[in-house]
Amino acid sequence: MGVKTLFNIPYAGVDKDGEYDLLIGLNGECSVVIELVNPVIRYSAYPAGYEEFHHLLINVVKILGDGYLLQKQDIISRSRYKGQPASEYLQKQYNAHFDGRECLKVTTYLTITRRVKKGAFYVYDARVLRDFRQAIGKVLDVLPSSKALNEGWLNQLVLQLLSMDFGGANIVLDNLAPSETEIRMGERSVRSISLVNIDNIDLPPEVSTHIELNDKESMRGFPVDFLSFLFKVPGVDVIVYNQVIEIPNQVATLRKLEQKRKRHAGIPDPANQLCVEDIDLLLNDVARENQLLVNCHFNILVAAQANAIQKAVNFVENSLFQLGIIPSKNAYNQLELFRTVLPGNGVELKEYDWFLTTCDAAVCFFFKESLPKDELSDFLIRFTDRQGIPVAIDPSDLPMRTGRINSRNRFILGPSGSGKSFLTCSLIENYMLYNMDMVIVDTGHSYSGLCKYYQGKYITYTDKKPITMNPFQITEAEYNIEKKDFLCTLIAVAWKGAEGTFSPVERDVIANVISAYYGKFFATGGKLNFNTFYEFALEKIPEIKKEEKIPFDFDEFRYVLKKFYNGGEFAAILNNETDKSLFTERFIVFEIDSIKEHKILFPLVTLIIMDVFIQKMRYRSDRRKTLIIEEAWKAIASPLMAGYILYLYKTVRKFWGEAIVVTQELGDIIGNAVVKDSIINNSDTIFLLDQTKFKDNYDQIASLLSINETERRKIFTINQLDNTENRGRFKEVYIRRGAVGEVYGVEVSLHQYLTYTTEKPEKSAVESYTNRFGSYPDGLDAFVRDFKDSGKSLSAFISQVNQNQQS
Ligand SMILES: Nc1ncnc2c1ncn2[C@@H]1O[C@H](COP(=O)(O)OP(=O)(O)OP(=O)(O)O)[C@@H](O)[C@H]1O
Ligand SMILES: [Mg+2]
Repeated sequence: MGVKTLFNIPYAGVDKDGEYDLLIGLNGECSVVIELVNPVIRYSAYPAGYEEFHHLLINVVKILGDGYLLQKQDIISRSRYKGQPASEYLQKQYNAHFDGRECLKVTTYLTITRRVKKGAFYVYDARVLRDFRQAIGKVLDVLPSSKALNEGWLNQLVLQLLSMDFGGANIVLDNLAPSETEIRMGERSVRSISLVNIDNIDLPPEVSTHIELNDKESMRGFPVDFLSFLFKVPGVDVIVYNQVIEIPNQVATLRKLEQKRKRHAGIPDPANQLCVEDIDLLLNDVARENQLLVNCHFNILVAAQANAIQKAVNFVENSLFQLGIIPSKNAYNQLELFRTVLPGNGVELKEYDWFLTTCDAAVCFFFKESLPKDELSDFLIRFTDRQGIPVAIDPSDLPMRTGRINSRNRFILGPSGSGKSFLTCSLIENYMLYNMDMVIVDTGHSYSGLCKYYQGKYITYTDKKPITMNPFQITEAEYNIEKKDFLCTLIAVAWKGAEGTFSPVERDVIANVISAYYGKFFATGGKLNFNTFYEFALEKIPEIKKEEKIPFDFDEFRYVLKKFYNGGEFAAILNNETDKSLFTERFIVFEIDSIKEHKILFPLVTLIIMDVFIQKMRYRSDRRKTLIIEEAWKAIASPLMAGYILYLYKTVRKFWGEAIVVTQELGDIIGNAVVKDSIINNSDTIFLLDQTKFKDNYDQIASLLSINETERRKIFTINQLDNTENRGRFKEVYIRRGAVGEVYGVEVSLHQYLTYTTEKPEKSAVESYTNRFGSYPDGLDAFVRDFKDSGKSLSAFISQVNQNQQS
């Protein structure tokens, strides 16, 4: 065949008269091009998504019926990541870390073309056009987030395809120099790889809506797109996967097929027999399952630098081969194939490019995946997608608006070292970009770096300087049932410890005493604190006992609580006032590691910190606020305090706040009714880090957190994908908002890493710098500079810094 050299654009123009701009072909066929987003997100581990989209596409074919051509184009282009400009120091580092990273983009167009009968003259018919527009309307209705292209966009798309350039704003058309094997465009080459070799049809005997990965034990059964290898083709700039379906007249096609069958059956040799069998299978599908017969055509257009093209093509061919597809060996009609990739120009496909099958089978070859995109919201938190490109999601407002979640509270679970605190740091850093107050209760100094960076308040509990709060100091207006309940709980904990029980009589007596105490003090005035309350109780309780003749261990009460009274060991805790600046401070860390093992102080102090938070919430009603409780939640997860936790969660929601509980202890959460009923049931967002260590108990965890089989599958892909190349250190996290979750990466710049790290040597090395310099950023800059200059590995540099420290 001679090689064509003249390139005529196959369009007569654009008709802008109707609702949608129509692209008119040279023979009068008209097309509408629709942009859509493939609904299956790559690596979403959700097999049903492929099936749903598959049926949606079949539906589109059915809506259209015969006389139409459907062309789906998935354009996978490679570009360099460019972050949004940032003004904040750590965010700048984050952007710099990702800037220029190679990233993939999938753009999808669906072109619907109304055919004109072959050989016939084009006749303008207003009715046909009206029907066409109606059909388009229906298609747009069934396809989520789809949009018809206007003239400007159509022009741009045609230019982009002609230049195979989907990146830059300015498109430069190079000369097209076609040869028998490829088309040259300046320094680049473009090749068409046709999936169907018409002389000898080599396709897998059975196809499905997607395929499953089976190479790695942990990933067995993981669903991916049938052509997911298109994401991995080495060295390409752009791939256009052109998928075309033509819907022929069913009756005529069936008749032809039956005639063909007869012809083959007449000559009973094996080859003819095979043909007959194939046709029988097809006819069977059509008859039994009411399937449509369609002609289809699939072509992969690959564009790369001339010296890289062969490798890319080999990769595509090998990958197809592994799927049981032997692509056409003699695609000498390169220019012809290239032209048919232009939207609406499927009409130029020749008889030998088409392949007859059922619509169901044809749609199996359609590409169904897209890559995650930033959510549309103005409250966004950045993670990375699974290829390592920043992607922003809204964990709060958008899912609340759409009803995906009903509360902003979150629960973070993962074994020790899995990256919970690191993830939380990254979350906090994102939160701080909004007008957010942060209160953290920690045991183990995981947030010291971040606190210093924000110049927040770092409050460490020590015997000399305990955390204090005078919970009795309230105004008459502040006195209500909830406050009274809180004080009751507080006294119960101080008296019995978190694990103790408070009998109904005891609770009633204490509640009575509290009422009487405030009754008297609000009337007569006087100092409100634990000391005066204790003195008041010592008088009041014997009176109540005598009057009501009830059992109440007054001596025990008096003795146990004495240590919080004037002169007692813990006298300061409930008498000295809270530092008032806590109410206006944006970033506070309470570090209570030193009392972690203390049966009474640990819960008591946790309780008063939470109350400080509640007060602060009321005080700062104009902004978001977050309470993060690391292991300290354990101290309060007892039946005695269950009511209080529920109250806290409820109040947090009302005051534009959220509570985040972070834990590693399975033993603590499994079988603890308080955790389930108050914490987990009120946390609509769950973050799970690598759960491999919990695998043996997973049924229990799954039932506790209501994780179904699909979600479980996603969870066990955490840190299992082959996606570490060209990336910094990162860990993955599964984030479930409402019923379904997705897996994201937590990857940050070196500066952020050094701020977040919980590794002791790394922390002290960083601290030695940040203490020495005027500001935290200056210290970090100096650290990174010295580290880079040293030419050492990070761990070697850190040991050196620490050694120098000691000497
Ligand atoms: N996303 C990440 N990227 C890079 N390094 C990470 C990441 N997550 C964790 N690490 C590394 O692992 C270390 C431990 O992580 P982290 O302190 O967050 O664990 P944890 O789950 O909070 O453990 P624990 O339950 O003991 O507190 C970090 O100091 C850091 O060095
Ligand atoms: Mg931690």
